[in-house]
Amino acid sequence: MLILKTITEIKNFTRKAQAQNKSTGLVPTMGYLHPGHLALVKKAVEQCDLVVVSIYVNPLQFGPREDLAAYPRDLERDSQLLQATGVDVLFIPSDKEVYPSGHNTTVTVGAALTGKLCGSQRPGHFTGVATVVTKLFNIVRPERAYFGQKDAQQVLVIQRVVQDLNMDTEIIVVPTVRESDGLARSSRNIYLNPAERQAAVILSKSLQLAQKVWQQGQRDAATICSLVIAKINTEPLAKPEYVQVYAYPDLQAVEQLNGTALLALAVRFGKTRLIDNLILEG
Ligand code: PAJ
Repeated sequence: MLILKTITEIKNFTRKAQAQNKSTGLVPTMGYLHPGHLALVKKAVEQCDLVVVSIYVNPLQFGPREDLAAYPRDLERDSQLLQATGVDVLFIPSDKEVYPSGHNTTVTVGAALTGKLCGSQRPGHFTGVATVVTKLFNIVRPERAYFGQKDAQQVLVIQRVVQDLNMDTEIIVVPTVRESDGLARSSRNIYLNPAERQAAVILSKSLQLAQKVWQQGQRDAATICSLVIAKINTEPLAKPEYVQVYAYPDLQAVEQLNGTALLALAVRFGKTRLIDNLILEG
């Protein structure tokens, strides 16, 4: 596995491979890799001739009071994990490489997709995500790029960017990878103390409850949210930030869910904010 740090190097490398008709897959990450990331990598290795994984903790997507400085990093371990997967290139640019002095362009997706859920709780977050992903797509020019359903709103935002900016990259969405007790894998799970870690199962448990009432025919958005919030509140350490249901994939607010819907939630355990979601198939 080649480790490249500059945009010039990776452009040269991918352009040469693409001239030989090799299909390129890109897996953008912020590192501290876990089995969720590795599921994306595995899919990319299966589907593409050349796989690039990027590790870059993107300052533009963190708010001023968020965990940018504390975000877990372990490049040594990450590259060892990737060695075994068949990844061709690990791209680890510096902040100066991605945002050189004078950088002054961002990509912002409109409020219909970004003015709710995590977008309203984390102003500027999706502009940060859309900007860095657009840059990575321009640098690597992947035929396919891999994203996790764990970050459902992020997927919708990236799909919008690709469509609106006429990009040629196909977005492949990989199902959420969970721990054996149901907790969605996340780099941020490491922040949880043992009691919070145990309490965090309430996220997937509350989604399972929603799935059950949905299967029983419940279609009232407010009722589903209330049931989920009540379930989360049975866990004293859990502080719900939002629990919302929207029509999927346009994220329109609806009272009665006629088609497919997205139930998304963000819950705090102490200082740690975790998200999870469920698509309720219409
Ligand atoms: P990061 O949180 O490192 O996640 C990288 C990718 O892994 C994302 O597509 C995310 O949805 C996926 N992922 C994380 N946990 C997962 C899980 N449990 N199951 C399946 N997939 C999972 O998301 C980001 O980084 C950044 O916003 C990024 C897209 C890299 C832009 O900076």
